[in-house]
Amino acid sequence: MTVRVDLNGLLAAAVGASGLAADELAGVEAELARVREEFAARRTAGTLAFAELPYRRDEARRVLDVAGGVVEIDALVVLGIGGSALGARALVSALGQAPGGRQVIVADSIDPDSFGALLERLDLKRTLFNVISKSGETAETMAQFLVVRDRLLRELGAVDYKQHLVVTTDAKQGVLRQIVNDEGFRDLIVPEGVGGRFSVLTAVGLFPAAVAGVDVEGLLAGAAHMDERARAAPGPLTDPALALAGALWLLATRHAKPIVVFMAYCERLAATADWFCQLWAESLGKAQDLAGRTVEWGQTPVRALGAADQHSQLQLYVEGPRDKVVVFARVEDHGMAVDLPTTYQDLEGVGYLGGHSLGELLNAEQRATELALAKRGRPSATLMLPALDAFTLGQLLYLLETATVAVGMLAGVDPFGQPGVDEGKHLAYGLMGRPGFEAHRTEVEAWLARKDARFVL
Ligand code: PA5
Repeated sequence: MTVRVDLNGLLAAAVGASGLAADELAGVEAELARVREEFAARRTAGTLAFAELPYRRDEARRVLDVAGGVVEIDALVVLGIGGSALGARALVSALGQAPGGRQVIVADSIDPDSFGALLERLDLKRTLFNVISKSGETAETMAQFLVVRDRLLRELGAVDYKQHLVVTTDAKQGVLRQIVNDEGFRDLIVPEGVGGRFSVLTAVGLFPAAVAGVDVEGLLAGAAHMDERARAAPGPLTDPALALAGALWLLATRHAKPIVVFMAYCERLAATADWFCQLWAESLGKAQDLAGRTVEWGQTPVRALGAADQHSQLQLYVEGPRDKVVVFARVEDHGMAVDLPTTYQDLEGVGYLGGHSLGELLNAEQRATELALAKRGRPSATLMLPALDAFTLGQLLYLLETATVAVGMLAGVDPFGQPGVDEGKHLAYGLMGRPGFEAHRTEVEAWLARKDARFVL
């Protein structure tokens, strides 16, 4: 049950000059060897925390213990945003149909319509809320927490309401940590050094997944399997994550491919595509390199879903600007067999479908799209999952996280910071009157005052 990466569609042999020449990939081997050494050195120094997560069995046990204690509950609602929501959604959407699993809703919205409507339809007595914030002070999440805490308190009373909250946050820092310490909510930890978008294999993703009935041990075993393959690879070009990273980096920097489309041919992977887009965008989109030079680097991720987006975005990808590389994710065995009946055999335009299955058709569509792109010189790679289960999903997530960090290292940018996001957070704090952010408020007000009424139409 090994996830494989097929790079053939990226090569010049498949797509002509816009692909990678045979010697180009070989030419990046020395750079990738440097990245490999940096990975190893940082892991030894303990500064690449995400990479060790498959082995943090103590964390997994704590998650499973807390999840095991979740009884008399119909639904878990995650209150979080960005990296504190997308990993949980990816896991639950892919694997959350397990027998005995609870409904898990990831509420990463502060839209009053949708959040208000969600609260209206929940039976609070039968709902557990998991507040997730690494920093413990993101305005959206804290606002959700305030609303939910208030409603729980009013409906369930000052003693029982606490049973309906589990808080996942940093072990030491942040306002949420202070609240947990003061009020004694059940809590889970986001390990030190693991930022939001790299936290899917911590309590951030694993607790909601466990409540949904996902095989958490299987996920971690899958991630460890990908790591072991990387370590056992004789060279960087046989390490799936590094080879993928090297290829995408070359395409971005030397073949003018500023856009990567992640196209999953499996609806259960649609949320994984969203998770990947955040991971790639926030990790790699950086103004400065590690030496402080302005580079404004990044590759814009776009999410697409096969086969639906063949009938929406694909025309652009096949014939529009040659600025994209597509990464397909395909699942060989979709599990659910839906056979196509042998009907209308006298009508060639439909009769040919009989005797096949929907899974076969979906996978044929992926191959057809790959070739339609290749014929027009548009490169693509394919991530192939034998089936979609905890073990293969764990491999896929770890592969993509590792590839992201490796591209960051190749590009010389820090994949772990997010100053652009923080700036937006601070300006919003200012507008909402948070003490200490008065200058940010003034800045926004000045920006609004500069708007020219003639151009507000
Ligand atoms: O990946 C990231 O670091 C961000 O997307 C954060 O997850 C997001 O901003 C939410 O932050 P926090 O978990 O601190 O509430």
